[in-house]
Amino acid sequence: MDKERIITAMSLKEDEDQSLRPRMLSQYVGQNEIKEVLDIYIKAALKRKEALDHMLLYGPPGLGKTTLAQIVANELHVNIRVTSGPAIERSGDLAAVLSSLNPGDVLFIDEIHRLPRVVEEVLYAAMEDYVLDIIIGKDQESRSIRIDLPPFTLIGATTRFGDLSAPLRDRFGVVFRLNYYGPEDLEKIVKRTAGVYDCKIDKEAIISLALRSRGTPRIVNRLFRRVRDFAEIIGDGIVTKEITDHALSKLGIDGNGLDHTDYRYLNAIVKTFNGGPVGIETIATSIAEEITTVEDVYEPYLMMEGYIRRTPRGRVATQKAYDALGATYYKGLFDDAPK
Ligand SMILES: Nc1ncnc2c1ncn2[C@@H]1O[C@H](COP(=O)(O)OP(=O)(O)O)[C@@H](O)[C@H]1O
Ligand SMILES: [Mg+2]
Repeated sequence: MDKERIITAMSLKEDEDQSLRPRMLSQYVGQNEIKEVLDIYIKAALKRKEALDHMLLYGPPGLGKTTLAQIVANELHVNIRVTSGPAIERSGDLAAVLSSLNPGDVLFIDEIHRLPRVVEEVLYAAMEDYVLDIIIGKDQESRSIRIDLPPFTLIGATTRFGDLSAPLRDRFGVVFRLNYYGPEDLEKIVKRTAGVYDCKIDKEAIISLALRSRGTPRIVNRLFRRVRDFAEIIGDGIVTKEITDHALSKLGIDGNGLDHTDYRYLNAIVKTFNGGPVGIETIATSIAEEITTVEDVYEPYLMMEGYIRRTPRGRVATQKAYDALGATYYKGLFDDAPK
């Protein structure tokens, strides 16, 4: 299961090292288009002494959404209140959070697609007019009162943009989609991390880690920490290419950055379902995983790397997937299906 996976993009306990989080926009590696416009928005908000527009960050886990939200608050010199969709169960919970904000503060709601509908409806007026409409009393006695809120910036984060209701989506002035990081960016990140830990690392080791981290900063940092353990115990503390490759193979990660979970998934499509097309529900059932885990965590990277394709009839394995499994590829009947 994904919990035991060293290359899961989901956050593990060991990832909670705050010292690795860049604090300012200039330290945030990559995502250049986002940084460029965000820098302007931040400066404009500071100049006008106004709250920044509400902002939605979406993309796969581990790409720096939470980090970016914290950077925005730092750059604006305001406080950030961090909560999440599932944590806000009733509209009263939201009212409590909102009324604790100071002018200009950032409210960060992680997994905002999981906000209950009743809570979402209270959020609309708060976002639009900085007011809180709450209903007090019961039945005939009940009445609605309106409380003014200080101007604030809501930053929502989600891995599932499509699960957000349209009215909520429309209330964000700024929407940023975070992309997977290229090898050069991951090299910069792991180099910085090694610096934070005061650890020596060879150039080739950096390259090797960057190539096998699935485009994900959270993973490159985690793999670095594991490899550093190997370097300290079986080496002299310096992270070399040899130690890196040895450690990664011990951790079950191959030269493509794939692990047994990826192979279990690819095997299901290629061997159990003859290369597809096969529906996501069927795959998830056959490998005993949740559909959302398969969709949010397993597939995005495999899709980006071209191991699988999405077609109207379901997932299809590509030549690359067959090659990775050492299986023979026959050009399939559905090969010309539109992507
Ligand atoms: N652009 C970046 N530059 C440097 N480090 C980053 C960047 N994005 C993410 N990280 C690192 O990866 C880790 C995971 O990022 P996080 O913001 O928690 O991801 P998300 O909220 O999207 O799941 C952070 O702790 C940080 O150390
Ligand atoms: Mg996060």
